[in-house]
Amino acid sequence: MSTASSTFSKGLEGVVAAQTEMSFINGTEGILEYVGISIGDLASKSTFEETVFLLWNKRLPTQPELDAFTKELRSDYAMCDALKARIRALPKDAQPMHALRTIVSSMAMDDPNPNENSVEAARHKALRILAGAPAVVAAFDRHRRGLDIVEPDQSLSFSANFLWMLNGEKPTDAMVRAFDICMITHADHGLNNSTFTARVIISTLSDMYSAMTGAIGSLRGPLHGGANEGVMKMLNEIPSLDQVEPYIMDKIKNKDRIMGFGHRVYKAKDPRAAELMTLAKQLADDTGNMDLYEKSHAIEQIMEREYASKGIYPNVDFYSATTYHCIGLQLDLFTPMFALSRIAGWAGHVIEQLSDNRLYRPTTDYVGPHNVAYTAIEDR
Ligand code: SDX
Repeated sequence: MSTASSTFSKGLEGVVAAQTEMSFINGTEGILEYVGISIGDLASKSTFEETVFLLWNKRLPTQPELDAFTKELRSDYAMCDALKARIRALPKDAQPMHALRTIVSSMAMDDPNPNENSVEAARHKALRILAGAPAVVAAFDRHRRGLDIVEPDQSLSFSANFLWMLNGEKPTDAMVRAFDICMITHADHGLNNSTFTARVIISTLSDMYSAMTGAIGSLRGPLHGGANEGVMKMLNEIPSLDQVEPYIMDKIKNKDRIMGFGHRVYKAKDPRAAELMTLAKQLADDTGNMDLYEKSHAIEQIMEREYASKGIYPNVDFYSATTYHCIGLQLDLFTPMFALSRIAGWAGHVIEQLSDNRLYRPTTDYVGPHNVAYTAIEDR
């Protein structure tokens, strides 16, 4: 006897589970806005710091407000010695996403009031994690390469400081701008799986660190943020441009998922993919990686021919792979880059949830048996 109800939606597809003032997505027309401003305008005109202020305050800052926010963010760049010691204690062969999740979780132990959930306290914790996460990723990568940790430089922007700490040399303006566009375009995106995870966790009045830890765990999955690494592996597997067609057609024949394509909400091209495609082409041209861009473009054309009728188009991960490669990032740092940016969105949603909380507790359709007798073990 099933107690099936009409409200069951596998994967919660189409279910409205929260209200937000941060990002608006029109999946049919391929529209994304942060607080009403198009992602195209923000990618071309804004900075990541300004975008974070917009998401958290629901409006663009004045210049004095942006200066004050930037100063506050930069004051949290530095890692305490205890945190650096924990990073140095990590196995050098740990996966960067596991390292990031572990260290962000441990940041609760450096906070005298880790469980305080006032909106002001949550915002301060969010800033600490947003500012500290780049240092964690950079420090772990240098640790695993046997290099000294590079201390943050408070004179540098969020993006420039990350590239400085990672490479130990001041990045070019072009690379900083490219990285900043990646951070802007990945910052928030409605109730995606990792954001929903963060809201579910904080809805028990847990804490910001637990919410962020859960969200990082969700993002690592190849169906979500992990797809950008899958795209790069696919591009590396295709030996040359003339092998793209047979490679992709073979995957389609085997009903394999093509990483970087498809989306639960977008049934048109993800507007972030359009922004990142332009960026990837420019960077590929500047860095001698046009083969990657040309293979990507060829894949997109084949997928358009084969799958557009099913509403399967490139998503944010497809061209971010080439972009991150051209910036000089190692493949297993691609998904951590997604996390560095999405911490902004996760934090904004945690604060929204705290501001009007109700414990998440969906129900199930019980489809198992009833009135079953208990059989003694000797009789089974
Ligand atoms: C992100 O939610 C967000 O907003 C996420 C995100 C964000 O900013 O937070 O946008 C970031 O996670 C982008 C998605 C990155 N993931 C990938 O690129 C992995 C590959 N994509 C797919 O696995 C898939 O498209 C999902 C997981 C993204 C969405 O899957 P759905 O909505 O659950 O759709 P589905 O699996 O039910 O597929 C519907 C049909 C199926 O065919 P049929 O069985 O009906 O014949 O479309 C097919 C699927 O086989 N399909 C694909 C495909 N994606 C869907 N076929 C080939 N390649 C693909 N990529």
